[in-house]
Amino acid sequence: MASEITYAEVKFKNASLPAVAEVPPETKKHEHHPQKCPPWLPWLISLLLLLVCIALIIVLLALQRPWGPDASSAQSGDEPTALQQQFLEWQCISVVAQGKGRGWMCCPKGWKRFGKSCYYISDDMMGRNESAKNCTGMGSHLVVINTEAEQVFLTSQLEVSRGKNYYIGLRSQVVGQWQWVDQTPYNESAAFWREGEPSNVSVEMCVVIHTTPSIHNWNDFRCESSYRICEAAAVTV
Ligand SMILES: *[C@@H]1O[C@H](CO)[C@@H](O)[C@H](O)[C@H]1NC(C)=O
Ligand SMILES: *[C@@H]1O[C@H](CO)[C@@H](O)[C@H](O)[C@H]1NC(C)=O
Ligand SMILES: *[C@@H]1O[C@H](CO)[C@@H](O)[C@H](O)[C@H]1NC(C)=O
Ligand SMILES: *[C@@H]1O[C@H](CO)[C@@H](O)[C@H](O)[C@H]1NC(C)=O
Repeated sequence: MASEITYAEVKFKNASLPAVAEVPPETKKHEHHPQKCPPWLPWLISLLLLLVCIALIIVLLALQRPWGPDASSAQSGDEPTALQQQFLEWQCISVVAQGKGRGWMCCPKGWKRFGKSCYYISDDMMGRNESAKNCTGMGSHLVVINTEAEQVFLTSQLEVSRGKNYYIGLRSQVVGQWQWVDQTPYNESAAFWREGEPSNVSVEMCVVIHTTPSIHNWNDFRCESSYRICEAAAVTV
């Protein structure tokens, strides 16, 4: 009896399992996959891959721009700066080497570079107005000193042996009211007056760097003949 019952159970399972488990899944698989997916998917996937490739190419081209087209547009597309129009010979350093990203930073030959600026230190003397005019004529302006680092750099570039005076772009029209040529607000904490200066007298409305080893070397001065320091933004290509 017991063996007959189990026999019947096994038979029942054998009959029901294949009927439910094998046949319908196989027919369903064959119905759904070969008929619906293969016609759509490969094309859809290739289309998506193509779109991804196109997007990648566009991104790569966009990333390359700072090197190629941008470099040439600085010379042809963009307006050349006043400084660029004045000089033919340039000295450039690679900005990439300094980890700043793109291209070259250039100053006219014979000028000094510090940070993003170029500096012209004159060998001849002129009055204050002629000095300012000479700088603008070269696409620059009398130097505007914004930071202690810049002041330290300029001081290091000047011979200290002879007490020369170099005009900077600071002057006053009213005694004690100092103004930079480029409208940068005068900052008392970034001013480097020599000890005891400025003397604030109406005959000394111009400011010079007086060559001494100290970085505190500014002096208010008569606007008479002096050397000069001109500054312009370095040209990046
Ligand atoms: C220099 O220019 C200023 C205005 O920028 C003027 O007031 C002054 O008279 C000029 N000085 C000379 C000596 O020409
Ligand atoms: C500025 O002065 C320098 C040196 O004297 C001179 O070579 C240059 O031609 C002058 N430039 C202008 C525009 O005045
Ligand atoms: C003035 O100069 C000091 C010292 O360099 C600096 O910390 C400060 O930010 C400057 N203030 C302005 C308004 O530029
Ligand atoms: C000149 O004026 C400035 C403020 O404008 C002041 O700090 C300085 O001490 C004055 N110099 C003298 C010699 O009085």
